[in-house]
Amino acid sequence: MLPEFFEFHNPTKVVYETGVATDLKPELDIIGIEKYFIVSDKPIADLGLVRKVEDGLVESGFIVTGKYTEVTQDADLEGVKRCAGQIKASGAQGIIAIGGGSVIDTAKAANILFSKGGDLVEDYSGAQTLTSRLNPLIVIPTTAGTGSEVTMVSMVYDRDNKEKLAFVDKYLLPDVAVLDPEMTLSLPPKLTASTGMDALTHSMEAFVGTAASPISDAFAYCAIELIIKNLVAAVQNGDDVEARGAMLIGSCMAGISFTHSMVGCVHGMAHATGALYRVPHGVANGIYLPYGLEYNFEEIYEKLAKLASPMGIDASGKDDKFLARAVIEKVFEVRKELNKLDALPLRLRDIGIPKDGLEAIAEGAINDGTSFYNPREMEEETLLPYIQKAY
Ligand SMILES: [Fe+2]
Repeated sequence: MLPEFFEFHNPTKVVYETGVATDLKPELDIIGIEKYFIVSDKPIADLGLVRKVEDGLVESGFIVTGKYTEVTQDADLEGVKRCAGQIKASGAQGIIAIGGGSVIDTAKAANILFSKGGDLVEDYSGAQTLTSRLNPLIVIPTTAGTGSEVTMVSMVYDRDNKEKLAFVDKYLLPDVAVLDPEMTLSLPPKLTASTGMDALTHSMEAFVGTAASPISDAFAYCAIELIIKNLVAAVQNGDDVEARGAMLIGSCMAGISFTHSMVGCVHGMAHATGALYRVPHGVANGIYLPYGLEYNFEEIYEKLAKLASPMGIDASGKDDKFLARAVIEKVFEVRKELNKLDALPLRLRDIGIPKDGLEAIAEGAINDGTSFYNPREMEEETLLPYIQKAY
């Protein structure tokens, strides 16, 4: 059945090539400015990835006006303001972000202040508050997970008020997403697994979500195939450029799908667990994904069955319920393989969540914004047994 309404807006140019992050000249020449400021974090700088990109820029005649490599695990408000101040003072004309979700979110939010000035929270938090384009932003992801290089969202943590601020705007979509598998080769197995499970969750929740469209489905479908077939290989052998490349493309396509179709109860539970117990987002999604699919089973099994083929399941002569269960079983299998590689915990008890904390997680999940897009109505009493299963 077709949705009554949907829109698809995807202006970010995606460039894929092994080694392309050190040869950005063709892309930057199109943009037409010369002075760039680099935003990253300390681990990425310590790995030499910032230097690699910087050297490439300088060799091609571009000017790096400065670097901010202090982004913390959460993109935090004070950091965003500091970063924006440095970008402005440096005389830059554009930004290059090199990193995972926090770095990209910091660069997006800092670009608002850099381009427009004003008060970030008062003037711009919330949805669609911008009225014109920002300065050019080029994003080079170093994880294959958040899809932030192609989403219109920036999440920033306000430490003083202990709250996450959301900035959602089409003008936050980066100008170019540079997918270079060499930039993810040094990602450790645990982070490869958890960020990969985040990407798988994006694509699966987007595919079965209430806001899905045929266009978001196409991106989700291909993303799921790429991720299912390459995640374990990328964890097993971090130097597998082919698997790393497939994961980067899969994560990017998952990002395009969920920025249009949204996510559901798996993310709701992960957000609640992260807020209460500081559990990394990808780890929580990895634990909850099959249980969230089971929670929604009656509403989504016909759609879920369509994923049998990209997940490598023989679909001939099987009915939708059988195939949907096989799809969920496949998710369980991938988790188990990652767990065997000591790269992903499988249960809440394994990451120190207390048994008496599960009700609070259920409460947090049903109050999360993602509950609007979940196929089955989210109620504390019906969701709790699935959180208990994940325990
Ligand atoms: Fe996510």
